[in-house]
Amino acid sequence: MIQQLEELKTKAFQELDKIPDARELESWRVRYLGKKSSLTSILRSLATLPVEERKSVGARANQVKTELESKLQEKEQALREAQFISGTQKEILDITLPGRPLPAGRLHPITQTLNEIFEIFASMGFQIAEGPDVEWDYYNFEALNIPAEHPSRDTTSTCWVEPKSESGDYNMLLRTHTTAVTARVIEKMKPPIRVIEPGRVYRYEATDATHIPMFYQIDGLAVDKGITLADLKGTLYEFARRFFGEERKVRFRCDFFPFVEPGVEMAIECLNCNGKGCRLCGYSGWIEILGAGMTHPEVLRRGSIDPDEYSSFAFGIGIERLPMLRYGIDDIRLFYGNDLRFLRQF
Ligand code: DAH
Repeated sequence: MIQQLEELKTKAFQELDKIPDARELESWRVRYLGKKSSLTSILRSLATLPVEERKSVGARANQVKTELESKLQEKEQALREAQFISGTQKEILDITLPGRPLPAGRLHPITQTLNEIFEIFASMGFQIAEGPDVEWDYYNFEALNIPAEHPSRDTTSTCWVEPKSESGDYNMLLRTHTTAVTARVIEKMKPPIRVIEPGRVYRYEATDATHIPMFYQIDGLAVDKGITLADLKGTLYEFARRFFGEERKVRFRCDFFPFVEPGVEMAIECLNCNGKGCRLCGYSGWIEILGAGMTHPEVLRRGSIDPDEYSSFAFGIGIERLPMLRYGIDDIRLFYGNDLRFLRQF
């Protein structure tokens, strides 16, 4: 019987070594230490043995039992450490704990503003058109009635791009306004046209709280038979109402832009003082937010659209200004400083 016990022990240890997980460990326990195991039946049969044998076999059997039990514990511990029992062991992995929050990204406030404006104009039937950031002099200036001697071609505001043309003049630049896309659209598309033209624009300017060399604009253009200034006003009123709220007052005044005739500027009642006058609005109660007008006949003609048959309105909005007004942001550089403490607020 002692011999049987030794064999049993050796076999049990060998098997235990190979056990990979908790489930097999349990079936091992049942096999070697359970009620129906040969060890248990040896222990049960002790009473039937002669006294001498009972002593020696009993002692050895109990020893083997203790050894098996302590090996079982060791193995349990080892498996637990290797996390094989993890799912069922609370102290190792509490599956009821809430998950760690994943850091969620968000859209940049300028992207959010652009999307909001796209939606407003899309609902009025405008589609989106885009053009290149590196633009020909022709589309940025010439096609828009801005002749060579016009001050906006001055090197103080335009970033010119090499190489120069054969004549030695610069003819390529970083577009200074998205109105350049209007010049392209008029050339390519056939009326009726309703587009908005978002994009980055560039100015050769020193940086301060209200100026940066790269910013966003959205130009808009509608070309059709019978378009009037009333359509322009209606469209822009609707935009202002939707973007700034029903109550916000809007004002149109004459302005000059070479590519429109007549030209207007649109201002909204100051969001800071509600029209009473404050530092933000220069004590006028109004804040100018966009330029607009009826597209100049010459501009249409250059794009092969007959100004006697079609008329058109156009507008151009600076984007950064809008969230600045809405949220009271006093420095435009914050948008592009990549400071998460600022960006996370939107
Ligand atoms: N391009 C002008 C600017 O950058 C803004 C502008 C004014 C655009 C009048 C227009 C317009 O389309 O009709 O200051």
